[in-house]
Amino acid sequence: MVDPNDWRQICADYLSVSSYDRATLDAIWEDRDYDPKTRPETYLSYPEALARHELGPPEPPAESPSLWEVLAARRSKRNYLPEPLTLTELNLLLWSSQGITGDKGDYQLRTAPSSGALFPIETFLFVQRVEGLEAGLYHLDVKGWALEALQLGDLSDTACEIALDQEHVRKAGVTFLWTAVMERCRRKYYERAYRYVWWDVGHAAENLHLAATSLGLGSVSMGAWYDTQAHELLGIDGTDHFTVLMASVGRVEGSDWEADRRA
Ligand SMILES: Cc1cc2nc3c(=O)[nH]c(=O)nc-3n(C[C@H](O)[C@H](O)[C@H](O)COP(=O)(O)O)c2cc1C
Repeated sequence: MVDPNDWRQICADYLSVSSYDRATLDAIWEDRDYDPKTRPETYLSYPEALARHELGPPEPPAESPSLWEVLAARRSKRNYLPEPLTLTELNLLLWSSQGITGDKGDYQLRTAPSSGALFPIETFLFVQRVEGLEAGLYHLDVKGWALEALQLGDLSDTACEIALDQEHVRKAGVTFLWTAVMERCRRKYYERAYRYVWWDVGHAAENLHLAATSLGLGSVSMGAWYDTQAHELLGIDGTDHFTVLMASVGRVEGSDWEADRRA
């Protein structure tokens, strides 16, 4: 076990080990090869899920603000009303962050870019207030475009606890919990992959925030969560498959959300 007091050295070592340097890069990669034909499975699904909810094609509203208006309006908003999201809104949020938009035959492309088109990110959801969808913990089956229920019931306390007791999570319509399946990216990029997965999730998250803004919803990313508790809940090992970001989304009204800005 590493000594956590050595964290500065450990982090410095990591940055050094995963840095590219013109003088050494070719030698390091000389014995490495990558065969896309033997790449790890890109799509995770849970055939044993308690229930499966087909999402169907996303249906954007007839009218939306322009991209430029959305960019100017995006703000982290946490002061959610206790009113549910619609399934159409949830479908659009999911599609914006991870929907498939291109087919290259043996791989597909999505709304968000991914390093090497390897798509290591998985989406789990705490559904709390969504019309027509039972509360619970769900996983997004990206290829089948469906939500798979892993636990049913009110998990708002659990979600809030995992997010370091951030109260907006308890009030959210839905909370995203993104994970990375490391080997999808690591098989090709080795140590550098430990940078790529964070960039991948950042792209997906910003798409989510822009979609939420466009729909008039509030959303906020969360970098603070109890990793070990989240991994236990999801039944993942925290090493080869681990959590990389959270975000809550909810309905907001007017400029009420300004009251929740921190000093
Ligand atoms: C990676 C990341 C992690 C964040 N973590 C949290 C968080 O745990 N809790 C929270 O309330 N806000 C969190 N935020 C939101 C920031 O506080 C917010 O983006 C920042 O104050 C700038 O405000 P704006 O997003 O409204 O422009 C996070 C943002 C990012 C990008």
